[in-house]
Amino acid sequence: MNSATYRSDFLVIGSGIAGLTFAIKASALGTVHLVTKKKDSDSNTNYAQGGIATVMDPGDSVENHVADTLKAGAGLCNEDAVRLIVESGPERIAELIEWGMRFTTRIDEDGKEVLDLGREGGHSKNRIVHARDLTGKELERALLEKIAGISAIRVFEDHTAVDILTEHQLGFSSTDRQRSRSRDDITCYGAYILENATGDVHLFTASVTMLATGGVGQIYQHTTNPEIATGDGIAMAFRAGALVSDMEFIQFHPTSLYLEGREGRFFLISEAVRGEGAVLTNLRGRRFMEGVHPMKELAPRDVVARTIDAELKKSGDKFVLLDISFKGEVFLKKRFPQIYERCKEEGIDIARGPIPVVPAAHYLCGGVVTDSNGRSSVRNLFVSGESACTGVHGANRLASNSLLEGIVYSHRAWCHIAENRGLLASGSDAPNFPAWNKEGTFDLEEWILIQHNKEDVKRLMWDYVGIVRTNLRLQRARRRLKIFSEEINDYYRRSTLSPELVELRNLATVAGLIIEGALWRKESRGLHYNTDYPDMDDSYRKNIVMRSNGDTVLRPLSGFLFS
Ligand code: FAD
Ligand code: SIN
Repeated sequence: MNSATYRSDFLVIGSGIAGLTFAIKASALGTVHLVTKKKDSDSNTNYAQGGIATVMDPGDSVENHVADTLKAGAGLCNEDAVRLIVESGPERIAELIEWGMRFTTRIDEDGKEVLDLGREGGHSKNRIVHARDLTGKELERALLEKIAGISAIRVFEDHTAVDILTEHQLGFSSTDRQRSRSRDDITCYGAYILENATGDVHLFTASVTMLATGGVGQIYQHTTNPEIATGDGIAMAFRAGALVSDMEFIQFHPTSLYLEGREGRFFLISEAVRGEGAVLTNLRGRRFMEGVHPMKELAPRDVVARTIDAELKKSGDKFVLLDISFKGEVFLKKRFPQIYERCKEEGIDIARGPIPVVPAAHYLCGGVVTDSNGRSSVRNLFVSGESACTGVHGANRLASNSLLEGIVYSHRAWCHIAENRGLLASGSDAPNFPAWNKEGTFDLEEWILIQHNKEDVKRLMWDYVGIVRTNLRLQRARRRLKIFSEEINDYYRRSTLSPELVELRNLATVAGLIIEGALWRKESRGLHYNTDYPDMDDSYRKNIVMRSNGDTVLRPLSGFLFS
């Protein structure tokens, strides 16, 4: 086994929309190492269906999109950050098209080819650009093809980032570390990266590190997210001392395909289906969203998911029904080819009957705190995409705003670095980091232990930290997680490193952050609903910001989270 050192100007961790767009841009400024823990297209991005929210229609406006986003965010969005993404949207979409992205188009009344605009929950206008219901797949195709033609970018597939390189790895005493952290004086120099096939841990040093590792859906028993979504970047940044915020706001998508006896990743039935008029009923045919919200099925996601949850608890049913069959086979096959085919494989003909659906964990609004240029509180560590907390989503993300956020913030990070080239020179000052210490480790043959711990954490989060929370359940979750975390940390110290172990440790860290955030927020707001505090309380109209030396602080909303 051999550990190597790789040096580049930029280290990009993650190959979803945030990592790929940043890598493409960064390659104009220097060399890029792009590390991804599975195959290059394995990402949440690849599964995106609905599309990217952007103001394109002459009848729409920046103000409308901003207002819809702020309304969904339940008083916790940072309006400046929202304006940034909304105003930059059209330019970024044009760039994607220039890079080869093929969005679905239609011919308008004047015979002109225009982008087809879909509708989703919480949007007052049609403004979602999409590639039928395969937007993410098409995005990954276009971006990966672009990357393949850029010689300054070297892609490392099947390489898992383990920890960020900071002063921490240089053996500073805990007091030094404490002092350094309290001054917000930590620098990132790259990361330790595990080569999955060999078990070697390599040193990747870089002047700038971009964390674009996506979300945390795998923390829950039922999720729309693929296997990669284990919160690695957030856990790594947190361990390194970065500020992390808004972790209590987990978005549950109202409509994932219910299949009897199946667990794990639930296939998404896009909100765009409701955007085309689909209705939700219970098994007795009652349209239960009527009277709950003026937008009915197109109410913001938190409202729809909570109403379905209440409906299921009341009735004891296992699913509710989503009906779009009235649109007919020709339309459905063209507009939603993936959903049509996937349901067909399961014996469900969506042109002839309703689809059984349940909510599933979908998106994390919180993450590593960044400023308007994607900078985290750790020097030279940038974060973009679902791992970041930019202030855009507040307490609830508006549908299809996340792909937009990823491209806009990756672009802004690149602009910032291009204007501050001194950042790139700073990499030559990197200290000599020790090779990964493998001494004293043994093979953890009992893989089953890891698997069970993972399932324990996922079940715990689903049962106690789900759509509806209570103090009692949150306290119980905290106690149980403490026991699991002790076991997991023990394996981690004693075992040979494997990608599964890295992920398990990160899952436990991120689960802890979600539980702590939820315990701190003694109100109900947006995606965080606690029956012990059913109302919104504006003394909590603040971000709950945490960092690893034990601080948990409520930061007032004032411009960007830090500057
Ligand atoms: P991801 O696309 O998740 O990419 C993360 C990358 O990091 C992956 O390549 C992963 O392998 C890699 N990685 C993770 N950990 C490590 C590690 N330790 N080492 C190395 N690599 C690592 N949003 C919208 O705006 N519109 C939609 O229509 C939409 N539909 C969605 C449908 C589904 C089913 C899902 C799950 C999400 C959807 N979302 C949608 C949300 C959106 O897709 C994600 O928020 C967005 O794609 C996140 O992009 P990202 O680049 O931050 O992360
Ligand atoms: C969907 O297509 O419903 C997902 C959109 C999103 O998560 O933004």
